[in-house]
Amino acid sequence: MAMNYSDKVMEHFTNPQNVGEIENASGCGTVGNAVCGDIMRVYLDIDDNGVIQDAKFKTFGCGAAIATSSMATVLVKGKTVQEALEVTNKAVMDALDGLPPVKVHCSLLAEEAIHAALWDYAEKHGIVIEGLEKPVTDIGEHDHHHGVELVEDEDD
Ligand code: FES
Repeated sequence: MAMNYSDKVMEHFTNPQNVGEIENASGCGTVGNAVCGDIMRVYLDIDDNGVIQDAKFKTFGCGAAIATSSMATVLVKGKTVQEALEVTNKAVMDALDGLPPVKVHCSLLAEEAIHAALWDYAEKHGIVIEGLEKPVTDIGEHDHHHGVELVEDEDD
């Protein structure tokens, strides 16, 4: 508890926005950080004009991971898939008034979860989102087989 979090981080941690799933999402991406073991999944609902109408997330992770997924989903809503690439981990951190250095990777996971969902959307629709790369942390499960893989082993 010695960590200094901004009010915004605390706000998004205690009252996260856009928690949940989107059924038949246009794109869904799941990423994981092998070091801390945290997992983040983002669902995007994208209309025919390529505008993100809705975004939801499920995060099995630390407080900063929850706060950054919350903020990342807030920031991508209303953007086109191309504009959504501007929602970098830095943009998410700025919007949260910063993160302690050891928590920067949590915001990176949020960026990567968005990218994984965009990648899934692009793949399904046969389009190319310029500048988008498939995140290396993509653990490649999508909404049609959710559940099993998200159950984590107990740490003992
Ligand atoms: Fe790994 Fe936060 S500690 S995502």
